[in-house]
Amino acid sequence: MVNVAVLGYGTVGSGVVEVIETNKEAINKRAGAELNIKYILDLRDFPGDPYEAKVVHDYEMILNDPEVDVICETMGGIKPAYDFSRRALLAGKSVCTSNKELVASHGPELIRTAREHHCNYLFEASVGGGIPIIRPLNYSLTAEKIDTITGILNGTTNYILTKMDKEGAAFEDVLKEAQEKGYAERNPEADVEGYDACRKIAILSSLMCGKNVKYEEIYTEGITKISPEDFRYAKQMNKSIKLLAMSRDTEKGFFAMVAPFLISREHPLYSVSDVFNAVYVHGNMLGDTMYYGRGAGKLPTASAVVSDVVDCARHLGKTVMCFWENEDVKVAGIEEDQGKFFVRVESGRREAAMEAFGALAEINVGIAEEFAFMTQVLTERDFNEKIEKIGGCINRIRILSAQA
Ligand code: HSE
Repeated sequence: MVNVAVLGYGTVGSGVVEVIETNKEAINKRAGAELNIKYILDLRDFPGDPYEAKVVHDYEMILNDPEVDVICETMGGIKPAYDFSRRALLAGKSVCTSNKELVASHGPELIRTAREHHCNYLFEASVGGGIPIIRPLNYSLTAEKIDTITGILNGTTNYILTKMDKEGAAFEDVLKEAQEKGYAERNPEADVEGYDACRKIAILSSLMCGKNVKYEEIYTEGITKISPEDFRYAKQMNKSIKLLAMSRDTEKGFFAMVAPFLISREHPLYSVSDVFNAVYVHGNMLGDTMYYGRGAGKLPTASAVVSDVVDCARHLGKTVMCFWENEDVKVAGIEEDQGKFFVRVESGRREAAMEAFGALAEINVGIAEEFAFMTQVLTERDFNEKIEKIGGCINRIRILSAQA
């Protein structure tokens, strides 16, 4: 028997219990042992819940119980999740988590602690919810040199942008509706400003490099400035707008960014709509692979946590491989990154724009007050200098290159 404790009986924590209960026969077979939920830690009581008797309020009970093998940390946030996870690993108990914030900020340290104490710190659910992406990077793509990861890693923003695209609605209106339906948080900042996607691409980038990519060094831009007019232009260009999180290992350095991008119909990420997530990975031998599915939600996320529990049960007393060393990757400033831009300026700036950018492709959707165009490939630094000189910029959106 493998005894499991669940920390936090909220959406994901209760999902973990439900997944283990619903699929217990198959899961136990695959784990090679019976998984037993021994404790559920929460501040609250749950009268009438079938697992009511397992609920405890004191973490020390779990930590000091030598029978507990695996801990599912589904609390989120840094405090007290970091302390609880670290102490569990020091005691030789494996930890499986959905906590992207904690993994992005303390991943290498917790992985090392697990290795030193012959247990595991696993985090499949921290990126892309139920989509298997951590395990493919750790196990399946080990023969590859991965040079590019491009992901739609946030369901809330993908839902909002999909609605704006399909219905021509304004950002604020769709956000409000998403909040009413419970798809978006009451405080949506982490999602709409791109911070959530930034943590997730930091984790994927670290696994891509085997070294630590600090999320603080990733250029991050959200979707709050995207308007229905931007989507009118996007349609005219046969494109859509998606919040992309990407990292690229190039000869010029390691670039990482979260920002809205114009993406053409031909790109596989174009069709990833609503709350769905996808991760597009390019390896130097294999070429492209894509991982698609539900990036959030109770059961998809819990399913990924439980898959980690199964991995821990199969490897009790052993550490499964995870290449994420403590050494920091030098993330290049985006000024030297190159690409094309879609730009909207006040119509009076047409001549200045043509002079500054030279060959440009005009895009016309009949908005008389504006001049809109697509630039050639240029660096972010060049682009910023030119656009500042011209003035009157209404918006600018990067264009995803066909190679990304
Ligand atoms: N807020 C996140 C999202 C939840 O919308 O994708 C999953 O991490």
